[in-house]
Amino acid sequence: MSTDLEKLSEFVVVANRLPVDLETDEDGGKNWKRSPGGLVTALEPILRQRDGAWVGWPGVADEKVDPIVVDGLRLFPVELTSQDLAEYYEGFSNDTLWPLYHDVLVAPTFERSWWHTYVAVNQRFAEETARCAADGATVWVQDYQLQLVPAMLRELRPDLTIGFFLHIPFPPVELFMQLPWRKEIVKGMLGADLIGFHLPGGANNFLFLARKLLGFKTTTAGVGVRSALGHVDFDSRVVKVGAFPISVDSAELERQSKSESVLRRARELKEELGNPEKILLGVDRLDYTKGIDLRLQALKELLDEGRLDPEKYTMVQLATPSRERVQHYIDLRSVIEEQVGRINGDHSQIGRPVVHYLYQPVDREELIALFVAADVMLVTPMRDGMNLVAKEYVACRGDLGGALVLSEFTGAAMELRQSYLVNPHDLDGVKNTILTAVHQDPKEGRRRMAALHRQVMTHDVHQWAESFLTALSPPEPRPDNQFVT
Ligand code: ADP
Ligand code: F6P
Repeated sequence: MSTDLEKLSEFVVVANRLPVDLETDEDGGKNWKRSPGGLVTALEPILRQRDGAWVGWPGVADEKVDPIVVDGLRLFPVELTSQDLAEYYEGFSNDTLWPLYHDVLVAPTFERSWWHTYVAVNQRFAEETARCAADGATVWVQDYQLQLVPAMLRELRPDLTIGFFLHIPFPPVELFMQLPWRKEIVKGMLGADLIGFHLPGGANNFLFLARKLLGFKTTTAGVGVRSALGHVDFDSRVVKVGAFPISVDSAELERQSKSESVLRRARELKEELGNPEKILLGVDRLDYTKGIDLRLQALKELLDEGRLDPEKYTMVQLATPSRERVQHYIDLRSVIEEQVGRINGDHSQIGRPVVHYLYQPVDREELIALFVAADVMLVTPMRDGMNLVAKEYVACRGDLGGALVLSEFTGAAMELRQSYLVNPHDLDGVKNTILTAVHQDPKEGRRRMAALHRQVMTHDVHQWAESFLTALSPPEPRPDNQFVT
């Protein structure tokens, strides 16, 4: 181990994935590649700024990887076996918690053996973290895959200051109560000094559970955004609960979106797409929460009804492969690819498909060029904790061009009020709103985008981290008189 890695860290991020995945190329060579998802997008710049360590899984099963520095980041890999992957990651995290926390869009599977593996893997993450954190360090545990880590880590290292942030929605109490292990999960999170959610609604749901399910005293006044924290009187400690909407590295995105190479690439992309009058864009992990199928259905009906001219408009849909061995994801891929095939079969011309569909991640610069080129960005999840794609698009539109169609069921909708908001359960409403965005008056478009851009530039990922870590740091004076059982 290099000396740099032997040094214990004052600041540690713990997440299911490392910010990079270890990949083996055709010649058997090993490479580190950016891993998928909004969590990595958000936390990578934060870790870089604070010179901390990151504990996480390196993206491959059954491989022992030693601590390593990659691109200046100090990484501490946690090994997962194939069985861990099947039961902890694909099973409990992504076939139990993920659907349960996303409005039960598909039925969650409650499988006891998965739960046991989830407990064991959380313990392993806690132990690896305990090994690399300095005395009195600040540890920031991330997301639903690791909800037991705060309590396990406190048991191992009571000297640490522990924060926990949930990147996905925290569900309504009625849904959460379905979980056979609901008390264990809430207690696991209460091991933290501060528990953060994107929205006040999630924080209030959690406080209600701590009070009614576990019988702890809590404050009952509503939690605000980055303010008015809630409190739980737990085990002779006061646990703080708050709402901190995550964001993107807005200044960096804006800078890149204005670079000569991105502007050139945006022009090239338009040409490669046949210089359509307008480009519609979707960018998502291939996930049933994202409403990719819904927006394709809306597009199909608009084309079938002759309300959208296929010679004038083109859609680009990027879908990053995700959780490819979970059945709901396998099924969704087939549905989407059939929809794309049908739209193109019915409405394209030779060399000019209406929908350009890529089932692959693209590199950052290409993505930013696409944001700059796109006239209408379609973000239509059935449910999403935040949705960073919406904020990335807006950050890249300092030219005040473009239009954002945004589902009301994303966390981002709470802040991006000047977007074209849609209810994704109302297909006719989605269709009409897409048409409104496509045909928007340029002056009205600039007015909306100016407000959106201002919002995202002033509330960026640095402010998110700063507000969470500031709320985490000072010991909270006990607000005894406000506690309610
Ligand atoms: P989630 O965390 O559920 O995946 P978010 O919208 O919050 O959703 O974050 C997704 C992140 O992944 C964003 O930073 C987005 O730019 C990136 N991303 C999504 N799809 C692609 C793609 N096809 N190629 C490159 N990056 C992508
Ligand atoms: O925030 C949602 C999330 O699950 C993150 O925890 C994760 O980094 C991202 O989406 C991508 O998912 P996965 O790690 O399962 O590919």
